[in-house]
Amino acid sequence: MSEEIYYPNPEFAKDARINSMEQYWELQNSAKEDYEGFWKGYADEKIEWLEPYDKVLDESDAPFYKWFTNGKMNVSNQCIDRHLATRGEQTAILFEGDKGDVEHITYNQLSQRVNKMANLLKNEFGIKKGDRVVLYMPMIPEAAYAMLACARIGAIHSIVFGGFSAEALKDRIEDAGAKLVITADGAYRKGKPYMLKPVVDEALGQGGESIEAVLVVKRNNEAIEWVEGRDHSYNDLIDAQSDECPFEPMDSEDPLFLLYTSGSTGKPKGVQHSQAGYILWAQMTMEWVFDVREGDVYWCTADIGWITGHTYIVYGPLAAGTTTVMFEGVPTYPDAGRAWSMVEKHKITQFYTAPTAMRLLHKMGQDEPKKYDLSTLRVLGTVGEPIDPAAWKWYYEVVGGSKASIVDTYWQTETGGHMISPLPGATPIKPGYATFPLPGIMAEILEADGTPTPVGEKGLMCITRPWPSMIRTIWGDPERFVKSYFGDVKKDGKPVYFTGDGAMMDEDGYIKITGRTDDVINVSGHRIGTAEIEDAIKKVDAVAVSAVVGKPHDIKGEGIFAYIVLKEAGSADTETIKAEINAVLKQEIGAIALCDQIAIVPDVPKTRSGKIMRRILRAIAKGEPITQDTSTLEDPSIVPAIEKIVQEG
Ligand code: WT7
Repeated sequence: MSEEIYYPNPEFAKDARINSMEQYWELQNSAKEDYEGFWKGYADEKIEWLEPYDKVLDESDAPFYKWFTNGKMNVSNQCIDRHLATRGEQTAILFEGDKGDVEHITYNQLSQRVNKMANLLKNEFGIKKGDRVVLYMPMIPEAAYAMLACARIGAIHSIVFGGFSAEALKDRIEDAGAKLVITADGAYRKGKPYMLKPVVDEALGQGGESIEAVLVVKRNNEAIEWVEGRDHSYNDLIDAQSDECPFEPMDSEDPLFLLYTSGSTGKPKGVQHSQAGYILWAQMTMEWVFDVREGDVYWCTADIGWITGHTYIVYGPLAAGTTTVMFEGVPTYPDAGRAWSMVEKHKITQFYTAPTAMRLLHKMGQDEPKKYDLSTLRVLGTVGEPIDPAAWKWYYEVVGGSKASIVDTYWQTETGGHMISPLPGATPIKPGYATFPLPGIMAEILEADGTPTPVGEKGLMCITRPWPSMIRTIWGDPERFVKSYFGDVKKDGKPVYFTGDGAMMDEDGYIKITGRTDDVINVSGHRIGTAEIEDAIKKVDAVAVSAVVGKPHDIKGEGIFAYIVLKEAGSADTETIKAEINAVLKQEIGAIALCDQIAIVPDVPKTRSGKIMRRILRAIAKGEPITQDTSTLEDPSIVPAIEKIVQEG
């Protein structure tokens, strides 16, 4: 193959934790030879155990794997207390607000605030170990305090991204059976206040009966409604709390948090993560993939409402004792130089973002990075979707000055942390490739029967050994857990974890992720199930049938394309229907689920048994020729008819 290869900057590589491919293979081979021994070494070195564990990996109830069984530890100790003796005065969280206000929160201050918050949750709201707490928060330090306070007392947090609607919030509250919601009045975006508390009010007006109280943090001081007895002001209550709250000894396998994500069918699933295994891998990948060192200022631009925000803004960086940047605003305000001006101002050393953000920054300000001193950057990360070579090159040359390493990190909500990624001081990089599984991760591209997919062909991206930070179950639905992840691929007769992604390996062993193989769309690096969108569209009166597919989009990666069959042909025009559908989607899911394009069609292609042939619809949306045999369709003539409608727009 003729791809260009980019070698790690030797000056950087010489001090990197893993600084050659020889060292990578040594580690990976040692994991293959003695899997439990490999993990035991790191667990003993990295985790402050309160009580030792009995067994590294318990596979007796597969696929409900257990790690470090009966060990006791606490994630907030891991992220805060154990650092205080050596880094109490170091900045833990460097907050920058939308309007440019900056706050440095030291590890000592973080400790005080998390302890106070933990006491508040315990004393004021009676939150106990195992209780669920929903966070509907903007990107402000209090969101991190709340996460760590939950971890401290053993409560299970479930963060709902602030872009989700009241309906979506209500569903997640109900599924988790949460007792408390922590929210804020709102926050600032692009220089203006936006609101969150009214969405919580609306959600609780529709259901969410398990909720006993709402804790509200003040951020933008806009007027909000107040439900006496239910709503409580964080700002009024926090000062009176003691800043000492002993952390709860947690079992390695107790749930740490739930995070809802979309699957190919039905409602979102509550991915359940554990304590010890999760935090171990969060910390290890911070060290290996971002190679954080003393004095670094690390910035991940994600939102805490997604897994990237959990693992790589809060838990991983703090467990690794680094300084993590938390940013309230958007990288394009006040202009496309915002992110780069922050890199210069805070001397940021690692920058981690999504290809969609990069494409946007590239488009809005190709030369913008040149106006700033970005020489502190050593590692540039991407996550969420494949990165196209053009965006990769711009990132490497213009942002990184051809000196920083680019790490294209492949992973998922369910994996807890990175699975396949370059090591910045070791891996020669081919743009567009996630490259190799990290040491300890047994990632393989397989056919459904477990045979390896031949080089150069597309197969199923599987992880064939359990790993410490893996999903433990789907909250309240263990059967769905087994079916969703361990139902499709068997290796040596045993079910293995299938990611839902397709992938390809080249002759040098480099892995390229080719995208989801299920009915999940990746919009701006966020997963949305087509079934979820279709369920919402059903609520539009005029619609008889809808079929939703993804279509490549310049900035978002994938956009949402909906085929609509009306109950009464000709009863409405495309624009009216689109507006109605989008109003419903905004209501039911949130703005991330809005359709980019709709086509009103006389019918959708179905098999004789009634299954909608999405593959055909995807091809039509992309303007690709139909390669599939359409003769088995209930009505083959529908295909050219739909093609004509889509082409004519
Ligand atoms: C899906 C997971 C992982 C945090 C953000 C998204 C896609 C993720 C890459 C990558 C190609 C990627 C996959 C995966 N994906 N990273 N580097 N290259 N595709 O988390 O919402 O759980 O989505 O994002 O399709 O399954 P998520």
